[in-house]
Amino acid sequence: MPNTNANVKKCAAIISKAIPGFKPKIGIILGSGLGAISNQIENASIIDYQDLPGFYVTHIAGHNKRMHLGMLKGVPVVCLEGRTHYYEGEGSTESIKTIIRTLKAIGCDTLLTTNAVGSLLIERGPGNLMVIKDHINFTFQNPLMGPNDDEFGERFVSMDNAYDSDLRQNLLDIAKNLNIPISSGIYIATSGPTFETHAEIRMFKMLGGDAVGMSTVPETIVARHCGLKVASVCAITNLGAGLSKEIITHEGTLRGAKLATNNLIQLFLAFIESIAKNKN
Ligand code: HPA
Repeated sequence: MPNTNANVKKCAAIISKAIPGFKPKIGIILGSGLGAISNQIENASIIDYQDLPGFYVTHIAGHNKRMHLGMLKGVPVVCLEGRTHYYEGEGSTESIKTIIRTLKAIGCDTLLTTNAVGSLLIERGPGNLMVIKDHINFTFQNPLMGPNDDEFGERFVSMDNAYDSDLRQNLLDIAKNLNIPISSGIYIATSGPTFETHAEIRMFKMLGGDAVGMSTVPETIVARHCGLKVASVCAITNLGAGLSKEIITHEGTLRGAKLATNNLIQLFLAFIESIAKNKN
């Protein structure tokens, strides 16, 4: 079996040495161009992914590769700036497992993720937010394939309530109170790295998708396997291919992400504050 388990233990030891006694409650993964949230952590301790064995070092523009640990609105959190995607190829699955299981090993009970998506709905364009209600795994991969690691979870994993309904409702209520436009919808994951063809976008709409992206789903699967609750908010950075005249580029998605950043930060800060109050 690959050495995920050994890496998780090493990472947990490195983190505990860097910030002794710190037990984060929430692990937050930030998508392309959405790293600004980590700047909100007071006196963060920062660990470079290069110093965490098994955390793959991505080379995608818009992804810094650092872990930030500290208090956010009175809640101990660990914020991951930079994630691993399937399209990075060899080692990506092991990296995703190492990252999520390290969050579990250091004490997190909740995984909160953000990501950039293309919208399948013309009326919900760049700058809007979408809370994930459920997903369709169109990557044709599953990070749990191969021998099961019983230390983290069972062989067969229910995907009921994969995105925790209480956390989702809480996010929607908070957004409403803050007048932040938001919807709840179905995320379709592809492996990337190509953006979709026009025909694929039409198919994804027919399948019931609301947005499409290249991340998040493998993280959710690994998180559910090891018992983390999951909530995920998408930043809509563009309309899906063929739904507008624009040719989709990575730079364009980074610009689109900027339109959503302020609302996303506001939403996350209020959400985390509510977790401190409600203890859910
Ligand atoms: N497709 C897939 N992933 C994405 C997109 C898209 O249109 N926009 C941002 N991430």
